[in-house]
Amino acid sequence: MSLRDRRKNELTRKKLRETQELSAKDLIMPIFVKEGILEKKEIKSMPGIYQFSLKQVVKQAEEIYSLGIPSIILFGIPAHKDKIGSVAYDKKGIVQEAIGAIKTAVPRLNVIADVCMCGYTTHGHCGIIKNSYVDNVQTVKMLSRIALSYACAGADTVAPSAMMDGQVRAIKEVLIRNNYPKVRILAYSVKYASSFYNPFRDAVESAPKFGDRKTYQMDYYNSDEAILEAKLDIQEGADMLMVKPALGYQDIIYRIKKELKFPLACYSVSGEYAMIKAASVKGYLDEKKVLLETMTGFKRAGADLIISYYAQDLARWLKQWGRFSKRTVPMI
Ligand code: PBG
Repeated sequence: MSLRDRRKNELTRKKLRETQELSAKDLIMPIFVKEGILEKKEIKSMPGIYQFSLKQVVKQAEEIYSLGIPSIILFGIPAHKDKIGSVAYDKKGIVQEAIGAIKTAVPRLNVIADVCMCGYTTHGHCGIIKNSYVDNVQTVKMLSRIALSYACAGADTVAPSAMMDGQVRAIKEVLIRNNYPKVRILAYSVKYASSFYNPFRDAVESAPKFGDRKTYQMDYYNSDEAILEAKLDIQEGADMLMVKPALGYQDIIYRIKKELKFPLACYSVSGEYAMIKAASVKGYLDEKKVLLETMTGFKRAGADLIISYYAQDLARWLKQWGRFSKRTVPMI
């Protein structure tokens, strides 16, 4: 068969595909829940994405599940922040309440809770500051308390995203010690210090008030270091790894999958969403086609799961195109 023969019509192309077609079961939808609001509020730099009230977030979860998306990843915006993010592990905190309410309404939806402090601290950094520097020891202690409170609230998975050394091990130990051995860990193993997170920081109101995140998030010049981060997280007890951002980092996705052969997610971050959305609104790009092409690229590179703000829309479009997937057991 000549190369042109392989591409002669849609049927042949479909038959010879090396990568499985995208389906709703590959997706994880991020959602934002804000304490003390009654109506949803659109995020300026992410048209179509909202901060939801507690009540609304449950409705969203129901819709997401009905579209065949197996998992959500939850981010909270508390009403009060302080220097040490002390409300982050409050039993009655907004994330803990949302987990409880969602698990009651949609028990089969897999609820992943992001474990970090940036949304809870007045300075916007992902941990506790000591001498103008994020202190690893104190922050890891705090992250473990937060993760435990999410497990108590009913989270299926916790996802530590602060990029502190040893955070996965500490969380794993706390979960086991407190009798939550089944709560899984999705490790943000390879999280680069990226300018593509800016719209997210509008969403959780967490832009750092001084400095940047380069003393804990990875330097984008490196990829051997990414392998080291990922290997350590496997040793520390992670159930799944993550690469973030996704666009521009497909070499990292590819290397990790090839070299470590471990369940792997990628996070197509807020700036990636914003770029495609903005260009589509302007009419410069075909939103659906560009999205499908981009996301298929993540799968081709080796990602098992994709976290994307487009997950809900994409699942809706796939359904319209007759590509509704059978429900399966979620991978994480
Ligand atoms: C928390 C966190 C961030 C994102 C996910 N978890 C922001 C950051 O590190 O500043 C970014 C997600 C996105 O941009 O979509 N640390």
